[in-house]
Amino acid sequence: MKICETRDYRDMSRKGANVISAQMILKPDCVLGLATGSTPIGVYDQLVDWYGKGDLDFSQVKTVNLDEYRGLSEEHPQSYHYFMNRYLFSRVNMNPAHIYIPNGMEKNWEKECCRYEEVIRSLGGIDLQILGLGHNGHIGFNEPDFQFAPLTRCVDLTESTIEANCRFFSEKESVPRQAYTMGIKTIINARKILLLVSGSDKAEILRKVMAGPITPQVPASVLQLHPDVTVIADREALGKL
Ligand code: GLP
Repeated sequence: MKICETRDYRDMSRKGANVISAQMILKPDCVLGLATGSTPIGVYDQLVDWYGKGDLDFSQVKTVNLDEYRGLSEEHPQSYHYFMNRYLFSRVNMNPAHIYIPNGMEKNWEKECCRYEEVIRSLGGIDLQILGLGHNGHIGFNEPDFQFAPLTRCVDLTESTIEANCRFFSEKESVPRQAYTMGIKTIINARKILLLVSGSDKAEILRKVMAGPITPQVPASVLQLHPDVTVIADREALGKL
């Protein structure tokens, strides 16, 4: 793993955006795997800024998102569709036909998971996958488990993830209990991975991810096996390494 330590969240966001923009410049029709959560918001803001200055072009870029809550429609303000539109897609020249996110409203979960894997396959795989990190080591919505789940699937969210994500909802009861997520194999099949981490509250889990044993109990620890992972993390997040 390549590690890049940054001063703070702002610096992490700028450096993360640099990696993504380099990918877009070198391959204008690249496939970006995108993440939600609070961590990548600064990266998206920076990309929007550079787009506004004429330095970036999203017209040929294809995007596949990591995950989506099950049961939330695209219009629901807490859906990841809505998040992506708000922070990135509506602010740049993305072609809507190039945007792929699991369909949270599809009731037949097996069908949706197969469809999503087929989408990624037909795009030729992911060039650069952006990841945030859950407090329990989850990536996408791959929660700690007894085995690494390979492909896109529908998962039950853990209490700790529901707790962590209820800050975005008016009440805990309205946080969905299930989500669609790319699997671990889907994620590590990406040609490059960019893991973004910020804050002292992630320091202990980041230590386990990077220096602990590779175990499905810490899903992100699987990234140690990937040949091209860049971790961009601020000083606070790297505080325990
Ligand atoms: C959610 C998302 C993850 C994200 C995680 C961390 O659970 N499904 O993809 O990485 O939150 O969120 P945050 O960046 O807000 O800490």
